[in-house]
Amino acid sequence: MQREMSTLPRVYVTRQIPPEGLKILRESGQVQFQLWDSDDIPVPRQELLEKVKGVDGLLCVLTEKIDAELLEAAGPNLKVLSTMSVGFDHLSLEELKKRGIRVGYTPDVLTDAVAELTVALLLTTSRRLIEATHEAKTGGWGTWRTLWLCGYELANSTVGVAIAERLAPFKVKKFIYTDVAPRPELASIINAEYVSLDELAKQSDFLTVCCALTPETKEICNKDLFSKMKNTSIFINTSRGGVVNQEDLYEALSTGQIAGAGLDVTVPEPLPTNHPLFTLKNCVILPHIASASYSTRNAMSALAANNLLLGLRGEPMIKELKL
Ligand code: DGY
Repeated sequence: MQREMSTLPRVYVTRQIPPEGLKILRESGQVQFQLWDSDDIPVPRQELLEKVKGVDGLLCVLTEKIDAELLEAAGPNLKVLSTMSVGFDHLSLEELKKRGIRVGYTPDVLTDAVAELTVALLLTTSRRLIEATHEAKTGGWGTWRTLWLCGYELANSTVGVAIAERLAPFKVKKFIYTDVAPRPELASIINAEYVSLDELAKQSDFLTVCCALTPETKEICNKDLFSKMKNTSIFINTSRGGVVNQEDLYEALSTGQIAGAGLDVTVPEPLPTNHPLFTLKNCVILPHIASASYSTRNAMSALAANNLLLGLRGEPMIKELKL
């Protein structure tokens, strides 16, 4: 725990964030900050409610719920919130807006790491790598068999997308995407065709989800969507668990409605080890690591720190959410 007494703006940092961000805060000479000095255990809610009292700025991560209760506890000094995440579903935007609190977040700097992990998860799922290593380790590896552990190839496939550039070398036949409206500039880079969500489900051999979790996207991946997918299709989610109805996904996977799923995000997190999804061979589950490379996490940490400092100076942040 670091404590400094001065007249500088007070800031609370809810996690031991990667060193680049802490260094920026320390060396800025612009703030006095207190830190929840652990990365293994999130700050307990009660402690957080105590620590935010009277702060001018708050730097949080995605495990902290920033809601009316917390903002009330913080009080009227709080001017700037900076989250070390691209996702903002843990923030009550309405409450922040009501109080005129500016919000920084960390898009873009994690795009490469997330895209890489998405490709890794897609291939791990479609080529059944977890099952394969398990078989090799546990004596299931008998003679070479003609259809044993066969999966699905990207070559000649249709991919519903956000990782398209990474997949270019895999000879994908067609990229399609959906969004609230077409995004021609982005789509033209990879020659992707804009389709409806229904068409995305029907046509995709690989369907990757990467949208933010908002009231509009909550559980958009549900029975209805899975029922339109091919039974040879692979579903990948590296966005937020809340965009998927997990009961419907379990049903789709266990009945063979779809061929497999790779999930980096779930509801809740961590997913209890006795969750039915863990019993399925055709479901690969990772513990929310899409942006987990040293360079990306440091870049997120630095961006969160800089957003906070800029916000406290009353200047435009590098990445600020429009409320
Ligand atoms: C985010 O930033 O929202 C990711 O989910 C974690 O990197």
